Amino acid sequence: MAQVLISGGSGVVGKVLCEKLRMKGYHVAILSRSINKSKKLKTYLWDPTNNQIDPEAISSSDYIIHLAGANIAEKRWTVSRKKLILDSRVQSANLIFNEVKKQKKELKAFISASAIGYYGSITSDTIFTEDNHAANDFLGQTCLVWEQAARQFETLGIRTSILRTGLVLNKEKGGALSKMLIPVKMGFASSMGNGKQYLPWIHIDDLCELYIRAIENISIEGAFNAVAPDFQTNKSFTQTLAKTLNKPFFFPNIPAFLLKLVLGEMSVILIKGSRVSANKLIKNGFIFKFSKLNSALRNLLN
Ligand SMILES: NC(=O)c1ccc[n+]([C@@H]2O[C@H](COP(=O)([O-])OP(=O)(O)OC[C@H]3O[C@@H](n4cnc5c(N)ncnc54)[C@H](OP(=O)(O)O)[C@@H]3O)[C@@H](O)[C@H]2O)c1
Repeated sequence: MAQVLISGGSGVVGKVLCEKLRMKGYHVAILSRSINKSKKLKTYLWDPTNNQIDPEAISSSDYIIHLAGANIAEKRWTVSRKKLILDSRVQSANLIFNEVKKQKKELKAFISASAIGYYGSITSDTIFTEDNHAANDFLGQTCLVWEQAARQFETLGIRTSILRTGLVLNKEKGGALSKMLIPVKMGFASSMGNGKQYLPWIHIDDLCELYIRAIENISIEGAFNAVAPDFQTNKSFTQTLAKTLNKPFFFPNIPAFLLKLVLGEMSVILIKGSRVSANKLIKNGFIFKFSKLNSALRNLLN
């Protein structure tokens, strides 16, 4: 069976994806900055900041999935944090690319995460498709450069797939859902800002299935939006979350200015949000296991 190498495989998405790939019989290894993260999996060390990578990580792989990157929601977006968010995705992709090129490694595919932030932190009724351009704001430009780094693999004749991912819903502690649950469980569910911003989401099982499809199906090439075909606003999302947990939803909205004060520029990920289309994936034949938010939340929470 083929060997899949996952950069950032120790993260929220990577952990579940590694397990699902292993269950399908794939040999799975991860690229990590530290050896202790996963005892079950073969871990290859790398240090993207200092351009160091274990060459065997590349020589032994058939497919590479690039998930590595500093978390965008962990800390305030200072100048140095923004640089880290970008560099940790781009320098790391470049490091893999240079090693693949040096070894003349004939990878079967390079599959990279990207994010719906590509379309910008905008609240509007436009439904963004893969044909839209990247926005000019920080996340839009970060995703653009991240995707350009991934697309270098095309110059080597390697099939390249990019998954512009929405908010990933999963059970794990540390995932976004576990953080959203805290106020709701305490009975303080309320919307952020005016609550009208869209919140594109995807269930972790569907996202992992999509990564597996990107390995197995050569028609998954280029950019795809990895979002469920279900438009939710921040308000409708929070209402559904509260309803699923049998909790009230009557608190006033948390004002945008307060979120800006506490979180700075990073608050855009909470108070702005566009509609993003899942049509390209559906036309490609992808069948979502969880296409509606209430069934996704029931699956994860009950
Ligand atoms: N989760 C979501 O809702 C979501 C939504 C849209 C897009 N995405 C994208 O999908 C990818 C995977 O998401 P995730 O939620 O699994 O991310 P995550 O839990 O934050 O994990 C990403 C992994 O990247 C590695 N990493 C962190 N900082 C790094 C740095 N400075 N340099 C190099 N590597 C670093 C870490 O691995 P080691 O510590 O082992 O090196 C970490 O486990 C990310 O690129 C993310 O931006 C996620």
